[in-house]
Amino acid sequence: MLADLSNKIALITGGGQGLGLGIVQRLAEQGADIVIVDINDANALNAKKIIEKMGNKAWTSYMDVTDKLSIKKSIDEIISQTKKIDILVNNAGVAGAPGSTGTAFRDIDWEFTWKVNVKGLSDVTEEVLPHMLERKYGKIINISSVAARAAKYTTAYYATSKMSVIAYTQALAREFALQNINVNAIAPGRIWTAFHQDWMDEREKSGDQAVIGKDKYKVFMDQLKEVIPMGRPQTPSEIGALAAFLASDDAANITGQTIQCDGGQVMV
Ligand SMILES: NC(=O)c1ccc[n+]([C@@H]2O[C@H](COP(=O)([O-])OP(=O)(O)OC[C@H]3O[C@@H](n4cnc5c(N)ncnc54)[C@H](O)[C@@H]3O)[C@@H](O)[C@H]2O)c1
Repeated sequence: MLADLSNKIALITGGGQGLGLGIVQRLAEQGADIVIVDINDANALNAKKIIEKMGNKAWTSYMDVTDKLSIKKSIDEIISQTKKIDILVNNAGVAGAPGSTGTAFRDIDWEFTWKVNVKGLSDVTEEVLPHMLERKYGKIINISSVAARAAKYTTAYYATSKMSVIAYTQALAREFALQNINVNAIAPGRIWTAFHQDWMDEREKSGDQAVIGKDKYKVFMDQLKEVIPMGRPQTPSEIGALAAFLASDDAANITGQTIQCDGGQVMV
């Protein structure tokens, strides 16, 4: 089987919904047992049930990636149960601070987005990494965004955070290459998840004429068709399929890369 993940344990941050849930399901389909960490316990438990129904083992643990103590507590708890983490997918991410409309320059959006998308991602990685180094085996996959390389219909703070994810991926890949740790990133295009839906709702509340009274999915699709050559959204499952490949030993010689899964919006 291509991307065989049998006997592997994969931890996915923000795995309770959206892209994270798609990644959780695809990694499980390829044979991995799954650890779902999230700030939303109910969604994490729901994801656990889905995975157990598939016949794989699953665990959940509360983790707020912006809180180092929460990260340490969660990873200690997980390791005591699973004994190892083979695959880490850093997926938890935000489009801005709560209430962000993306139309105003607010310090809080810069600070909150950085805290979750960059510092949170590196803090989780640095808590998991020693366990990988101990076994000289690890696959780290960071979720960046098309916004990093094509800053259209995004915000400066979000694009900056996702470009930072690419830089972090490259630096870490180089640093740990001789320890058999692969570090790669995925840059998804546009997926109709709560991420976009909540943002549209905030824009509507703030009086943004571009969305008021409009069918929000149509607004999303109109923007998408303008920038994505394939003219359709990506799906959580498609992002999961790429994550499964990068997490597998079939991708053993790939490190430091950021792979676009965006219907051709960015061609590198
Ligand atoms: N939806 C898109 O079009 C799109 C495109 C490119 C990249 N991305 C990226 O994909 C990732 C997932 O996005 P999504 O669309 O599924 O979003 P989403 O809002 O549907 O899901 C985000 C998940 O992360 C969790 N989370 C948020 N803050 C957290 C924290 N502090 N600690 C732990 N968990 C936390 C949430 O509870 C949720 O389960 C993000 O990194 C996002 O930037 C999304």
